[in-house]
Amino acid sequence: MNSCLRVDTGHVSYPIHIGSALLQQPQLIATYIQHSAVFVVSNLAIAELYLDRLKSALDGFVIDEFLIGDGEHYKTIQTVEDIVGAMLASGQTRETTVIALGGGVVGDIAGFAAAVYQRGVKVIQIPTTLLAQVDSSVGGKTAVNHTLGKNMMGAFHQPSAVLIDVDVLNSLPRRELRAGLAEVIKHGALADADYLSWLKTNAKELLSLHKNTITEMVLRSCEIKSRVVSEDEKEAGVRALLNLGHTFGHAIETLSGYGVWLHGEAVAVGMVMAADLSARLGKLTWEDARYLKSLVEAFELPSSPPGNLTPEQLLVAMARDKKATAKGIRFVLLNALGDACLEEDVPVEILRRTLQAGETLCCG
Ligand code: NAD
Ligand code: GLY
Repeated sequence: MNSCLRVDTGHVSYPIHIGSALLQQPQLIATYIQHSAVFVVSNLAIAELYLDRLKSALDGFVIDEFLIGDGEHYKTIQTVEDIVGAMLASGQTRETTVIALGGGVVGDIAGFAAAVYQRGVKVIQIPTTLLAQVDSSVGGKTAVNHTLGKNMMGAFHQPSAVLIDVDVLNSLPRRELRAGLAEVIKHGALADADYLSWLKTNAKELLSLHKNTITEMVLRSCEIKSRVVSEDEKEAGVRALLNLGHTFGHAIETLSGYGVWLHGEAVAVGMVMAADLSARLGKLTWEDARYLKSLVEAFELPSSPPGNLTPEQLLVAMARDKKATAKGIRFVLLNALGDACLEEDVPVEILRRTLQAGETLCCG
């Protein structure tokens, strides 16, 4: 069963197609390519698995490609310059459509290259990790890293379409799958408590990639993400709630060294810490905080920060996070499961208790 949702920001509208074997549907892909030239950006590992399949579906188009090395360390302005160079060398014009075939790294780089190439060309996102399918491919955030910070150069550049073929998840390493599931839990925690219970009931099927269950999950998560970005394209308000778990999570990622923890793993712990803090502030019940922690654990994700990080180190790293404001560290907290809020006035002594809790997070 294939489904289609729309993102509609008021000035841009585009579809998200979700289903099985979408990469084998040439008519579907062709709908979103207006002229004959296509420039595919992918990475070496993903290209080996899926580039031929995509190229077969693009029969009749003039295809050029650029393959990035695999990994976050390629997410640099140099890679964007290399892509722009390859596009110029192969004679791409403003009529070219870029196709991003890959996970969040490829999607962010290719999206940014499309945003800047001759002041902007169209891009189609074909996400191949679960994280990219439910999060990064939807909403138009594109970026590369600077040596002084992650995602520090970027642009909002909405795709012409997002094509999500759930079959590609079969080749995804299990750890990457679980990291994507953390973002899925995040969607339920911030916007839909019924979705959280559905996830708990279906944890086994989801971890074993039962196709119909996975498809339904990707659809439900994309519904939440598309609703949020349709309402607030440039993160002036409600979109910031998608950062649930990120203030704690970024601190863990930064202090552990990038690459040691996957982003989704750090977000999983960050959500549990946000639930603990919400309960300490009297917003969330301890029972609901424990429920969220147990859900994170049911998906085989970490639920407490590494023991070698001290509360003081975490505090300093959080204060440096780019989401910190002059007023204080900005948290996304929970009033209830499915009801998130922004909070900038957290008393530091209560925050310290969360940071000190370790494995007893959410125990109340
Ligand atoms: P990733 O793109 O590095 O992919 C993870 C690994 O899986 C890579 O080794 C990749 O080659 C491999 N892979 C991808 N698809 C595969 C498949 N189908 N089969 C086998 N292997 C496959 O990681 P990610 O988690 O997808 O993305 C992380 C990036 O996304 C970060 O740079 C983060 O900043 C960014 N991000 C962006 C947004 C946004 O809104 N733009 C949101 C969240 C995250
Ligand atoms: N991943 C957060 C956002 O898209 O805003």
